[in-house]
Amino acid sequence: MVDVKIENVYKYYGSIDGVAAVHDLNMDIKNGEFVAILGPSGCGKSSTMRMISGLEHISAGTISFGGNIVNNLAPKDRDIAMVFENYALYPHKTVFDNVANPLKLAKVSSPEITERVKRATQLLEIDHLLDRRPQELSGGQKQRVAIGRAIVRQPQVFLFDEPIAHLDAKLRARMRSELKRLQVDLGVTSLYVTHDQLEALSMADRVAVMHEGILQQYDTPQAIYEKPANAWVATFVGEPQMSLIECVIRQKGSGVVLDFEGHEIAVGAKVGKVLAASKEREVLAGFRPNHVAINTRKTAGSIPGIIYARQLLGGEILAEAQVNNTMIRARVNTDFSLQLGDKCSVSLSKEDLNVFSADTGVAIY
Ligand SMILES: Nc1ncnc2c1ncn2[C@@H]1O[C@H](COP(=O)(O)OP(=O)(O)O)[C@@H](O)[C@H]1O
Ligand SMILES: [Mg+2]
Repeated sequence: MVDVKIENVYKYYGSIDGVAAVHDLNMDIKNGEFVAILGPSGCGKSSTMRMISGLEHISAGTISFGGNIVNNLAPKDRDIAMVFENYALYPHKTVFDNVANPLKLAKVSSPEITERVKRATQLLEIDHLLDRRPQELSGGQKQRVAIGRAIVRQPQVFLFDEPIAHLDAKLRARMRSELKRLQVDLGVTSLYVTHDQLEALSMADRVAVMHEGILQQYDTPQAIYEKPANAWVATFVGEPQMSLIECVIRQKGSGVVLDFEGHEIAVGAKVGKVLAASKEREVLAGFRPNHVAINTRKTAGSIPGIIYARQLLGGEILAEAQVNNTMIRARVNTDFSLQLGDKCSVSLSKEDLNVFSADTGVAIY
């Protein structure tokens, strides 16, 4: 097991005058750590993974494992194991032979192969399927065979690229906890690529959020959720989405308030102090749906709106209120009686909000 360092890494597919698929990436992954790379399709996640694995040339910068630069090492010499979304099992080989294949290639002795395949498949709970062929397996079982083939070698680094993206929701939820447990048990340094924020937040020790080839934030799941570095991260992470409202910071008495289309939003002392000290005037105030109330009670600070949508989420409802051109979402109880088009009052938390520069999107609070 090793730590992985990515320093000033760029990936260009065409000319270097074009747009970089990965732009000046810097990340350190500690020995034994589970790091997720999270971002929408096309943001450069797979390019990053392929450079780490050696399948793709690094245009600039260095990648090192345990202090040794691996830029010029072939994939087979990097001691990594990969599981990709479109993993290919050998269709004519049994589960046993599929999992055993890397060990056979490494000329491991036959009793040891049997022992290691047994251990890996027990861990993945596929040890009762060893004689089956891939076409006799469900999607989830096939996927676990692919993981078994990766872990059987006990590599220095695991690379997972959307390994469970195509599974159905229920199986995905189960695989999230299984993969996490497996990684903790094996203690292998792991990189896990996903476009699914829930997967990243629920599994990783740290999450690297990427957008258009650029690393936006690299921190613990909790920090990313509670203190997003910018407005883009704030709306990409968290489901249902944070509402962003355009406000102007306005002096009031000895403190400040947020002016939202003529409505005054009071903020707590801690936020107020930061906003008063900021040079920014126009900001985006962000509220997660659990920090917003939508109801019929008109109170001092409430903002009048119209119910635009309501969605049953199971144990609660996501209510969406429209205030002029702004949508504000709240989690409400299932006895919520307001219907589409009804008038409502929107109340926002004074303390639990994030504030971003309207100009750059960078977090102010
Ligand atoms: N082999 C390639 N040739 C040219 N462009 C590529 C190639 N692979 C990826 N790209 C481009 O690089 C960008 C990042 O792609 P990728 O790393 O696959 O993103 P992700 O895995 O996050 O969806 C995209 O704009 C994609 O179109
Ligand atoms: Mg990809």
